[in-house]
Parts: sequence; structure tokens; C-alpha cells
Amino acid sequence: MEDKRENFGSKIGAILAAAGSAVGLGNIWRFPIVTGQNGGAAFIIIYIVCILLLGLPIMISEFLIGRHTHANTAGAYRILSNDGVWKWVGRLGVFTGWLILCYYGVVGGWTLHYSFLSATSAFNGVEASEFGDIFESFSSNPWMPTLWLVLFISITHIVITRGVQSGIEKFSKVMMPVLFIITAILVVCSVSLPGASAGIEYLLVPDWSKVTSGTVLSAMGQAFFSLSLGMGCLCTYASYFDGGTKLAKTAVNVSIIDTIVAVMAGFIIFPSVFNIGMNPNEVGAGASLIFISLPNVFQQAFTGLPFLSWIFSLLFYFLLFIAALTSAISLHEVATAFVVEEYHTPRRKAAVVVTSVCLVLGVLCSLSFGPLSGIQIFGRNIFSAFDDFSGMILLPIGGMLISIFSGWILDKQLYKEELSNQGDLKTPYFRMLVFALRYIAPVAIGIVFLDMMGLFEFLK
Ligand code: PHE
Repeated sequence: MEDKRENFGSKIGAILAAAGSAVGLGNIWRFPIVTGQNGGAAFIIIYIVCILLLGLPIMISEFLIGRHTHANTAGAYRILSNDGVWKWVGRLGVFTGWLILCYYGVVGGWTLHYSFLSATSAFNGVEASEFGDIFESFSSNPWMPTLWLVLFISITHIVITRGVQSGIEKFSKVMMPVLFIITAILVVCSVSLPGASAGIEYLLVPDWSKVTSGTVLSAMGQAFFSLSLGMGCLCTYASYFDGGTKLAKTAVNVSIIDTIVAVMAGFIIFPSVFNIGMNPNEVGAGASLIFISLPNVFQQAFTGLPFLSWIFSLLFYFLLFIAALTSAISLHEVATAFVVEEYHTPRRKAAVVVTSVCLVLGVLCSLSFGPLSGIQIFGRNIFSAFDDFSGMILLPIGGMLISIFSGWILDKQLYKEELSNQGDLKTPYFRMLVFALRYIAPVAIGIVFLDMMGLFEFLK
């Protein structure tokens, strides 16, 4: 029996769910560092241009494809392509999302573990040099990260089984405001630390001398990952939008929320890094920034004020956890909706299938920091292979195909009708949008892709 198809119950619920997908680990552990390394505000400006030229057109298209068909991503492209070859774009999206969820869940588990360590004051009195070992011995342990991964995916699973309105929407409506409040509290604490102004300057004064072609490419890649584009997450969520949802406006709102949270994350991280006199080039990136440098920064920034260290670090890891969770839910939903609709499976059963596959592959990713570290795929452990393969290859290919499909293949009349809610809304930007989808996005993504594959290095 196929479950009856639900919609989001409110516009704000739809926006918060999509924003929950977009705001994730990418905003907090990647954006601030990439911004710092690429000239602060100079990078932010380039990033915003990428969102305008590339992110928004593709997001609007993904929304449109989902809402028009009211089907899961694979079904949506199958319907719109009349079962032709373009149906593979949707299937590719489902595959990509499923893959991302496996390694994303591992990091989600780490954020839970670090929330727990912060809550139990485990970092109290730990020396700066010891944080590396703490993370190392945790992530390489065969059991602990696996248990946290199982817990993280189980929470995702429970939200998904409750359905679109009582699960995803309700959860986003509670968690997204919590996320904004925590982010705001942390920003205020961090920027009021002594010496914080150097950190603010580091982010806000544009340093155009650091801008290279690599900067533009990083900005594009970041915009893509951060806005959850290229794999059908937003298409799936939009299949639960009702006919009155304004697609372009929703896309603008989601992009603004995502960018604001990313910039705020910079204001949490750098003022405290400068406060303890650390060089921003020394803090590392990704996991080493978040799980090795920052616990130390939070301890030292509030020396003599143990309560503040405790609450700051607890709130920070809890923030990461919520951000990761709402993104993981959106990834899970892509695969669950696919199994429900394409294999006529009840939602609960479909969610069990998705969760089980994720757990098996996720455990392999998790163990690749310990017992399975010997298994190498193209010189990477399993975790990094999943991460790089999905982020560097599948997402750009997906994004490029989506822009080509919506710019060249999809009927323009249909596009315009859907975009204007059957003529209710004015769409003066329609031609520009089509131009961006036809020419700008495919060419830009193609360049990023070739660069990532090392072609330009090779030519040099
Ligand atoms: N946008 C999320 C982040 O910033 C990651 C994500 C990518 C989520 C693709 C869903 C789909 O972390």
C-alpha cells in the first residue's frame, strides 16, 4: 500500500525545512575557513555572486521540478522526461544523497559525542597539546564512533518515520529557531572577547590580493554544497510544497538564511581564535578545526570562567549537531521518498531500508579511521572516498545536468506557468533565469569540475 502523499502544512514550515537542509556542517566547518583563506569579504562577495548566477537558478529549477510533479526525485525526472534518458538525473540524485548520508552521519555522530564531552566537562583542564590525541583515539576506536553514528542515524530515522508534517516540518519549526538563537548567543559571546576585533577584521576587510581563480572555484563548490544543490534534496522537499508557495521567493529566503548562518559561524570562530592569540592559518580545517583546535580555543578563551567555557562549548557542539541533523533528515527523505514511491512500500518499511543501508556503509566509513584504515580507494580511506566522490564528482555532475535539463529540455511554457503559480505571480526575471540555466551554470560548473579533476594543473 502506498501512503497518501503529504504536503508541508505552512509556508514557513516549507522554508524552514529547506533552510534546515541547506544549513549544515558546510556552513560551520567549511565556510569560515575558506572565507579566511580567500581574502575575507572579498570571498564573501564572490560567493554571493555565485549564489545569484548559479545557486538561485538551480535552486528554483529543483523546486519547480519537485513541485510540478509532486513526486520523489527519481519519479520527477522520469515523469518530466517521459521515461527518457533524462530520468537518470533523478536516479543519480537519489544515489548521491544516499551516499552523502553515510559519511555525513559519521560526523553527525562525532558532534553528538563532543556535545556529550562538553556537557560532562571532559575538556576541563585539558592541555592544548592533548586535544589532538583525544580526537585521534576517539575516531580510531572501533566502538565509540559507531555507537554515536547509530544514535545519530536513529534520531534521523525517527523524524522521517513520523512523516512530512509531523516529522520533518514540526522538527524544523522547532529546531531552526533554536539553531538561530544559539548561533546569535555564540556570536555575541565571541565578539565580546578581548581582541575579537582582529577576528572581525580578518573576516570583513576584503583582501583582494588573496583572490585567485581558485577562489572563484572554491566559492562555486561551496555555494553548491552549502545550498544542498545538485542531488534532489530540494526537489524532494519541493514536492511537498503546495500550489501557492512562491518558488523564487522561497529560494531567495533559503539562500539568505544559509548565507547569514555561514557568515555568523565565522563570527563565532575567528574572534575566539584571535582572542587566544592563535594564527588563523594554524587552526586547520574541517575535522581538525572543529574537533581539535576549537575545543582548546573555547577552554582558553574563557580561562578562569569555567562556566562560560562549559556553556560555550556545549552550545557550539549542540549547534553543529542540530545543523547536521536537519541536513541528514533531508538526505534521508530523498531516499525514503524514492523507496516509498518507486517500490510502493509503506513509509516505515522504506525508512528501515534506507537506514539499514546507511548504517552498514556508515559503519564502514566510521571504521575507516581505525581498524579499516588500511583499505584505500584511490589513495583515500573509505570515508574520504565517499566524501570526495560525492562532493567533487557527483554533485557538480548532478548540478550541471539539472541546469541543462531545466534550461534546454524542459518545456519553457511549463516552466513559466509553474514559476508564476499558473499566472498569479509576475516573473520579470524569467529570461535571465533561463539564460543562467542554459549558459552560465553549465559552463561555470564544467570549469569547476575540470579544475577539480586536475585538468588545469595538468595543462600547466
Ligand atoms: N547543505 C548541507 C551543508 O551545508 C549539506 C548537504 C548537501 C545537505 C547536500 C543535503 C544535500 O552541510
